[in-house]
Amino acid sequence: MLGQKVLLLGVTGSIAIYKAVDLASKLTQRGALVDVVMTQSATRFVTPLSFRSVTHRQVYKDMWDEPVELEIEHISLAERANMVVIAPATANMIAKLATGIADDLLSCIVLATKAPVLLAPAMNVNMYENHVTQDNLAKLRARGFKIIEPGTGILACGATGAGRLADMEQIMATIVETLETPQDLTGQHIVITAGGTQEPIDPVRHISNRSSGKMGYALAQAARDRGAEVSLISGPVNLPGPAGVRVLCVQTALQMKDAVMQAVRNADALIMAAAVADYRPAEAAASKIKKEDQAEKFLHLVRNPDIISEVKEEVLKVGFAAESEDLLENAISKIQSKGLDFIVANDITSNDSGFDVDNNRVTLIDRQGSREDLPLMSKLDVAHRILDRVVALLATRELGN
Ligand code: C5P
Repeated sequence: MLGQKVLLLGVTGSIAIYKAVDLASKLTQRGALVDVVMTQSATRFVTPLSFRSVTHRQVYKDMWDEPVELEIEHISLAERANMVVIAPATANMIAKLATGIADDLLSCIVLATKAPVLLAPAMNVNMYENHVTQDNLAKLRARGFKIIEPGTGILACGATGAGRLADMEQIMATIVETLETPQDLTGQHIVITAGGTQEPIDPVRHISNRSSGKMGYALAQAARDRGAEVSLISGPVNLPGPAGVRVLCVQTALQMKDAVMQAVRNADALIMAAAVADYRPAEAAASKIKKEDQAEKFLHLVRNPDIISEVKEEVLKVGFAAESEDLLENAISKIQSKGLDFIVANDITSNDSGFDVDNNRVTLIDRQGSREDLPLMSKLDVAHRILDRVVALLATRELGN
């Protein structure tokens, strides 16, 4: 399964290291070439021989060892790795990585690699919950590191709580998933909009809709995992910003329009998953409207601009059509009127897909009118199917140029 992929397994000084020997063995059995890099304190728990015995490869532990090849070791290790996994990752290593300290072989490699990095923290519960550690993890997450949360249970120190190295199956599954994801959007800048917009009526009220932002956020995550540079322009939602994605928060349709126009200048594709409000109050009242003010008398609405139609740049344009009737006819006419490359149509009348749920059932329709009905699947899977099309269309564009 992991045939010939080079996996750099960093191990640090935690008692959970004995589980890393098993991990190295399982990865090797699956066909990966596992380069183990140990910190000094890791070697106090387990000898390099344990890892060498299961990986049948050299184990690295010191910057100053005589290198086997005539290359600069930490750079060649960093460059040849398809993925870096640090399991267990101590609070100390996490802190060093968060601040860019490179005072040993493993921290140098992480600073030098362009491969995805996965951290599996393991430590005492108080060390884990300490704000410093949490801030460091948040910083790393924001930079695109994948973090596998530790499990909860009885820790080696006798305490009970979070800090136990995550299950091997979970770590394995994340590694396989990361390595199997094609990097076919590398070098592409994808702009994605998500969530609904809010159009203020007065300082406490607004017009909005039920969009949760889940589809757009799943798209951002999937595009990032496939190597794209992602700008996510998001209306107010209740979701954490995906790591490694530039998130721009906006409230109104007009703000979203400005952000999109700016972002598409150097983009390859625009995917408008946002549910933009069609109308906004002509003027937002400066102070709260009172019941006695008879709001219905002066609440005048004006049309918002149609953002995707106004984008004239040479970007691939993907729209969404949330329909409750005549799904296909409406979707096809939107492809024409908005100048889209394809549209993702979803029927919002069924309650197992659409708004605020994790699944979606969509139909992809292109300019030629050909349609692909996808079954009910997770929004992340839908995102990958949409991106498969984006990749194919971007490739034909490049051929045409
Ligand atoms: O016309 P309708 O709102 O159904 O079109 C949906 C598609 O158009 C979505 O991709 C949505 O993000 C986009 N849209 C837009 N600007 C608007 C309204 C919708 O870009 N003002």
